[in-house]
Amino acid sequence: MSQRKIVIEPDPILRKKSENLEKVDDDIRRLLDDMLETMYAAPGIGLAAVQIGILKRLIVIDISKDKEKKDPIFLINPVIISRSNQTSIHEEGCLSLPGHFAEIERPDGCQIKFIDYNGKEKKLSANGLLSTCIQHEVDHLNGVLFIDYLSKLKKDMIVKKLVKQKKELNKVIL
Ligand code: NI
Repeated sequence: MSQRKIVIEPDPILRKKSENLEKVDDDIRRLLDDMLETMYAAPGIGLAAVQIGILKRLIVIDISKDKEKKDPIFLINPVIISRSNQTSIHEEGCLSLPGHFAEIERPDGCQIKFIDYNGKEKKLSANGLLSTCIQHEVDHLNGVLFIDYLSKLKKDMIVKKLVKQKKELNKVIL
């Protein structure tokens, strides 16, 4: 396993639509392992492949609070098949928008179908934090970021700050 570099907004790749996978092989499993390691190191609770620059419909999630008992979920080609009418608000952040958070309203529950780490088709019903996380990550696969749900003013402000952050980061590296 190796850690990958996380793509930071603004970057055009984060706006691209990721492609479905044809099959799950060892190369894909290695990639999923790298994504998980990158997410744990960040640290974060969810990561989509596009966030390490790969336009494939792959997601890793681990919302377990206990660091001793890791509970990773691997989602390949996930599709949201239903959403609850009831909504809930969570404060969301994103590894591609470091240091920025906002309260986002989404359907409280969702049901998804996906392919798992071993290539098996599965279904999952989620609510609360897991449901929010799944919806946030599936958005990434469609080129959508949580700031897209904010007013233009708030969104522009965050992007402006990120541009400045990136410039500062480059200065340090150089
Ligand atoms: Ni994110």
